[in-house]
Amino acid sequence: EKIVLTGIKPTGKVHIGNYIGAIKPALQLADNDDYTALYFIADYHGLTFIQDREQFNQLSYEIAATWLALGLDPERAIFYRQSDVPEIFELSWILACLTPKGLMNRAHAYKAIRELNEQIGADLDTGVNMGLFTYPILMSADILLFQSDIVPVGKDQIQHVEIARDIAEHFNRTFGETFKLPNYRVDENTAVIPGMDGRKMSKSYNNTIPLFESSESLLRLIKKMKTDSVPPNEPKDPAQSNIFTLYKEFATEEQVNQMKDRFQSGISWGEAKNELYQVMNSFLEEPRQRYFDLISQPEQIDEILSRGAEKARSLAIPLLERIKQRIGRYL
Ligand code: TYM
Repeated sequence: EKIVLTGIKPTGKVHIGNYIGAIKPALQLADNDDYTALYFIADYHGLTFIQDREQFNQLSYEIAATWLALGLDPERAIFYRQSDVPEIFELSWILACLTPKGLMNRAHAYKAIRELNEQIGADLDTGVNMGLFTYPILMSADILLFQSDIVPVGKDQIQHVEIARDIAEHFNRTFGETFKLPNYRVDENTAVIPGMDGRKMSKSYNNTIPLFESSESLLRLIKKMKTDSVPPNEPKDPAQSNIFTLYKEFATEEQVNQMKDRFQSGISWGEAKNELYQVMNSFLEEPRQRYFDLISQPEQIDEILSRGAEKARSLAIPLLERIKQRIGRYL
C-alpha cells in the first residue's frame, strides 16, 4: 500500500486555492483503496507566522473542520495535528544536522522575504525567524517520517518536496537505505489558482476567497474579482479568465462546455460572475453547514485529532527507532 500525505498550515482562513490545489485531489486519493492517507494540520509551521494564542488555536480548528466538512473520513484517513506527534520534531533535528545551510538559503519563501527587504532597503533578515529559515527541514520530517510515496500539493510547494528528497538521499547515502524518496503530485490545471487580483491566490497577498463564507459575502467577493476590459458582447478567452478557471472546478462537464461557448460568443463579466457564484454556492452549501456545526464543537474535533495522532505515532515510532539505530544512538 502506498502512502499519500499532505498538510496545511493554519495561518489564515482556508481558501479556494487550498481547496482546489490540495484538498480536493487529496480527498480523491483518500477514497482510493490503494493508498493510506495521512493528512495533518501543520500548526508548528504556522507558529513561524502566528504568534497569538487565540488565533493559533482558532486557526487549527478551522483547518480541521474544513477537511471534515468536505468529507474526509477520519476512520479511513489518518488525520492529526502535527504538534501532537513529537517524533516529527525529533526527526527534524536529526535531519537539520544532515542539511547543508546552502540548501536552505536557496528556498523560495526565504529568498522572497530577503528580496522584499532588499527592495525596501531593510536589513535582509528582517522578519525572518529561525523557524521560517528551517521550515523546509520540518516539512521534510513531516514527509519522511511516514515513508510517503505521494505528496499532493500546489505548485508553490514543489521545491519543498524536492528538498525532502534531497535530504532523504543524503541520509540514505550517509547511514544506509532508510527513507523512501517522496514524489510531489501537482495537477497541471490547478497548480496555481488565481486570487481576486489575478495573482496566485495566497494568504500573504491578501487576495483570497475563503472557502466558507456566508453566501452573501461569497457573492460580494466574486463581484469584486478583477477582470479585463473586453466589452460585454465580444468573445473572451476562457483559458485566460480567472472566473472560468474557478468555474470549471465546481461545474459539471456539460456546464463547462456550455460556458466555453458563452465565452466565445460573448458573455458579460457580470453574467459570468453570477454563473460562477451559482455553481460555487450550490457546491458549498452543504459543506458550509457542516463546517459551522463542527466548528462549534471543538471537543469533538479534539477527539478525532487525538485518535489520529495515536495512529500516526504508531507508524512513526518504529521508524524513528530504526533511524536512531542508524545514527548510532543504540548499540
Ligand atoms: P499552505 O498551507 O500554504 O497551503 C496548503 C496547500 O494549498 C496549496 N495552495 C494552492 N494551490 C493552488 N493554487 C493556489 N493559489 C494555492 N495556494 C495554496 C499549497 O500548495 C498547499 O499544497 N508548507 C505547506 C504545509 C505543509 C506540508 C507539509 C504540505 C507542511 N508540511 C508536508 C505537504 C507535506 C504550506 O505552507 O501549505
